[in-house]
Amino acid sequence: MTTAAASDGAISVALLGASGRVGSRLLELLAAREAAGGRDGAPLRIVAALNSRAGFLARAGVPAGRVLDRLAAAAPGSAAAVRAALAQRPAPQVIVDCTASAEVAACYPAWLAAGSDVVAANKHGPAADRPLARAIAAARAASGAALHDAATVGAQLPLLATLRELHAAGDRVAAFEAVLSGTLSYVLGRVQEGTALSAAVREAVGCGYAEPHPASDLSGMDAARKLVILLRACGHDVELADIERVPLVEDALLAEPAPERLLARLAALDGTWRARAAIADARRERWIYRASFADGRARVAPEAVPAGHPLARLAPCENALILRSRYYHAAPLTIAGPGAGVDLTAAAVLADLLAAAARHAVPRVRLAAPSAAALA
Ligand SMILES: NC(=O)c1ccc[n+]([C@@H]2O[C@H](COP(=O)([O-])OP(=O)(O)OC[C@H]3O[C@@H](n4cnc5c(N)ncnc54)[C@H](OP(=O)(O)O)[C@@H]3O)[C@@H](O)[C@H]2O)c1
Repeated sequence: MTTAAASDGAISVALLGASGRVGSRLLELLAAREAAGGRDGAPLRIVAALNSRAGFLARAGVPAGRVLDRLAAAAPGSAAAVRAALAQRPAPQVIVDCTASAEVAACYPAWLAAGSDVVAANKHGPAADRPLARAIAAARAASGAALHDAATVGAQLPLLATLRELHAAGDRVAAFEAVLSGTLSYVLGRVQEGTALSAAVREAVGCGYAEPHPASDLSGMDAARKLVILLRACGHDVELADIERVPLVEDALLAEPAPERLLARLAALDGTWRARAAIADARRERWIYRASFADGRARVAPEAVPAGHPLARLAPCENALILRSRYYHAAPLTIAGPGAGVDLTAAAVLADLLAAAARHAVPRVRLAAPSAAALA
């Protein structure tokens, strides 16, 4: 790897999406870690930060608490040049992507090839279509750099690591069902309680569960990308086009670009969803947005399931995965818990960042190898 190792052992880090909700929460966590002396792992040095409008490079590093001020002072329009500079050597040791940008994900092969580990909250890289996915895999293989994506599905829930470890240990997934969208879990939970669909979506945006323009959640695209990432963790060669996707809200309605007008237009669906919730109630069912995989078929869709079903009993914003496999055939493996929100996502990104930093850290104390005499 040809990355920017500092003489004091600090790990150089670039952060994209620094001014977003997850990015700025991550900066708060990093500032708290700096204030505590960063004893849990290698010291980190933020050498670059970007949002969609601007970016800066600072080889000497900027304290986490000052990154947003420094970004605000960066030259407007500088983001693209700074983004390209991240692939030049010496590259940052870790690049953290807290955007939701496909354009940023397209840079992963260049960054990985330059030896930077990439930590992603952004699903566009880990769920990329085959050409980009293959370029990412090739760059990783060539340089030894890693893509860390735990935050992309279920935030802090141990979903991807568990699936990868089981697959590596010879397990083969037969089928699973899951709730992967904290936003849709929240919205459908509120609709089932009697809240109008449009009001429930507005609440989800207000609480920070959904993005200001909630199209990728309501279309099921976000859940479909998560399903691609989960299936790849189980060893399946799939891409987005292989997922059957039934949107919660029709794509045509979601084409409205202005968030406020979109939220207003959603009111047209309130009556339909009020009726669906009432029918489900009468049948002792609950609406969930279910991701499923069985018989080689992968699907995301709103579905009414019996009220006693484990996926129907989740609290708003909880995610869950129920899996049957070669090893879990007598009883399924269930992983469930809060799996969305800015705090948990930022915490998952920090955990991945620390794991990436540990890969680059130079051991400070090398133990002398015991002599042959000592071993005799
Ligand atoms: N919020 C959650 O609860 C949650 C949960 C799980 C996963 N995630 C994922 O985490 C990521 C961030 O979510 P968020 O809620 O923090 O989003 P957000 O608040 O919309 O922030 C996105 C950030 O990315 C920046 N950005 C956009 N395009 C960029 C580009 N081309 N180059 C550099 N920066 C760019 C934005 O800059 P501007 O401010 O200039 O637009 C902003 O700083 C997303 O991938 C999301 O799906 C979020």
